[in-house]
Amino acid sequence: MNYKLLDMKVFGDSRGKLVSLEGNQNVPFDIKRVYYIFDTLPDQERGKHAHKELEQIIVAMDGACEFVLDDGKTQEVVRLNRPDKALYIGKNMWREMRHFSYGCKLMVLASKHYDEKEYIRNYDDFLKEVNK
Ligand code: TYD
Repeated sequence: MNYKLLDMKVFGDSRGKLVSLEGNQNVPFDIKRVYYIFDTLPDQERGKHAHKELEQIIVAMDGACEFVLDDGKTQEVVRLNRPDKALYIGKNMWREMRHFSYGCKLMVLASKHYDEKEYIRNYDDFLKEVNK
């Protein structure tokens, strides 16, 4: 399975807490893009795709959701519900996001610019890609 749940170092004091994400340091790639997801609803699923080359780090800044991660052989479920945990997803991993809390805020760091051609959005195509 090409994913890892990372414990981020937290700098905390009486003022609050801070986590720093740095490319090629605690983020294992050069950060080319940042996007965020918000205004989520519990009955709405997202994702349902894989990437041929893209790597990502995902942090639930607020609220919670579940990732179903699938390498074409097995499936594992990861719940993101803390801003000090970062989910790394490498290439060729099918992901589905579900069970969002209302207004969950997900921040995503990506290793490449957005490129729709790099997505695999059909599960049978994904299985062909990982089994070739
Ligand atoms: P989509 O891939 O469906 O989101 P999710 O992975 O959360 O299910 O993306 C939603 C829309 O946003 C789609 O029209 C593509 C567009 N989009 C961009 O233009 N740039 C981006 O960096 C991303 C991630 C999506």
